[in-house]
Amino acid sequence: MQHEREAHVFIFPLPLQGPVNCMLKLAEILSINKIKVTFLNTDYIHQRLCSHTDVPIRFRNYPDFCFRTVPDGLPEENPRTGTEIGNLLESMDASAVPIFREMLLTAETPVTCLIADGIFTFATDVAAEIGAPLLYFDTVSPCGLWTYLCLPKLIEAGEVPFKDDNLDEMIINAPGMEGIIRRRDLPSFYRTNDLNDQIIQLVLREDEHIPLAQGVIFNTFHHLEAPILAQLRTVCPNIYALGPLHAHLKARLASWEARPTTSNSIWEEDGSCISWLDKQPSKSVVYVSIGSLAVMTRDQMCEIWHGLVNSGVRFLWVRRPGSVTGDSDETGIDQELARGTEERGCIVRWAPQEEVLAHPAVGGFLTHSGWNSTLESMVEGKPMICWPYFVDQQVNSRYVEVVWKVGLDMKDSCDRVVVEKMVREVMESRKDEFLKGAEEVAESARAAVSPGGSSFADMDRLIEEIKTMKI
Ligand code: UDX
Repeated sequence: MQHEREAHVFIFPLPLQGPVNCMLKLAEILSINKIKVTFLNTDYIHQRLCSHTDVPIRFRNYPDFCFRTVPDGLPEENPRTGTEIGNLLESMDASAVPIFREMLLTAETPVTCLIADGIFTFATDVAAEIGAPLLYFDTVSPCGLWTYLCLPKLIEAGEVPFKDDNLDEMIINAPGMEGIIRRRDLPSFYRTNDLNDQIIQLVLREDEHIPLAQGVIFNTFHHLEAPILAQLRTVCPNIYALGPLHAHLKARLASWEARPTTSNSIWEEDGSCISWLDKQPSKSVVYVSIGSLAVMTRDQMCEIWHGLVNSGVRFLWVRRPGSVTGDSDETGIDQELARGTEERGCIVRWAPQEEVLAHPAVGGFLTHSGWNSTLESMVEGKPMICWPYFVDQQVNSRYVEVVWKVGLDMKDSCDRVVVEKMVREVMESRKDEFLKGAEEVAESARAAVSPGGSSFADMDRLIEEIKTMKI
């Protein structure tokens, strides 16, 4: 008779803030449910988690949880921002993947389920080698991933590369997105004539590997993306929609009144902005942040700043170090942003974002439309002004405006007049309309992660299936 093995999940996130953040939330939910979890970080990420958060300490509450680390192969000072993702993956192939494989092959408690970021195409071979089921966790939005999966069809149909400069041309060969997506709403790296481009090739490789997994996990909820999830099931029938994961973890841990558990930030948070928000009137502040990877030029920063100042609305701006390209004068930039706006503006280098978005003084979010930021804004019922940078963000921002109707899409424009107009619309002239839409989405998000909700049920199914997976 075969001996029953202990369930042991091995989680390997893409070593960037967004993916690490939501995979840690999933890891914690699995740990609450007494599943053994090994979480693999790169040294770069782990050192930052240890110095800026109490994550390693918090996870000591779970005796069957452990962190392991691998080098990412890049020198310490190397940028790990958005456009460097191809280099990061290439470097990890050489330095991290062999160690990761060895860890799985020699694990004291055999790994019974591997959960890896969808972009880790090497995971299919390693999972097959150890004979464990593989679940891909795609931390980008499902609508964004669907545009990746449609890429071969778009190339075959001659829609990509674009035939001319008309970015307003509607896209035809992305089923389920008819009448919604224009060329400009596809991931920005589709605006290339070179199909051998590093990122395009990565996406095409990911497209081949996704269907090889036993299932795909998404940080979304059925009510938000039902039509897209239906399309995704044609490629990978077994889907777990578990999001919004940050709210899901809170729901599993305690009541709705519970404040954010603790942060998973790899940068030090400046909590002084919360005391500043405490002094501002209800729903009067626009929160401005472009996440952990996006960058802007100094000109773009000035346009956004002038737009905000001219709108007369209060703002809280996250000015992440290194987020202005080609400029190393960090203090000079901050002084320029603060000029004449001390009364109405607050600038920090990194904020406790979940807490900021939950604050009653915040009335809107000028965002790069990263998927975590989008979900965090939705859960708090805060309308968005979207200025997408890359990957899934161009798709997310389009959905925010025309499908979910919880904000405005500013993509491909960075003009002070447009910024001022959109800020005024969201914060003043169309405030009630956007707040109503945002509150409806917030309610459905909260319902999804509560007992009886769709994400709650999908999580229970995942937990049960993991517990019965055997080698
Ligand atoms: C990346 C991609 O940009 C995004 O499009 C993709 O969907 C996921 O991976 P990132 O750019 O970091 O992520 O954006 P986002 O997904 O929004 O994640 C940023 C995270 O950092 C959020 O969880 C947010 O709460 C946190 N954050 C951001 C802070 O804690 N403080 C800040 O000041 C800014």
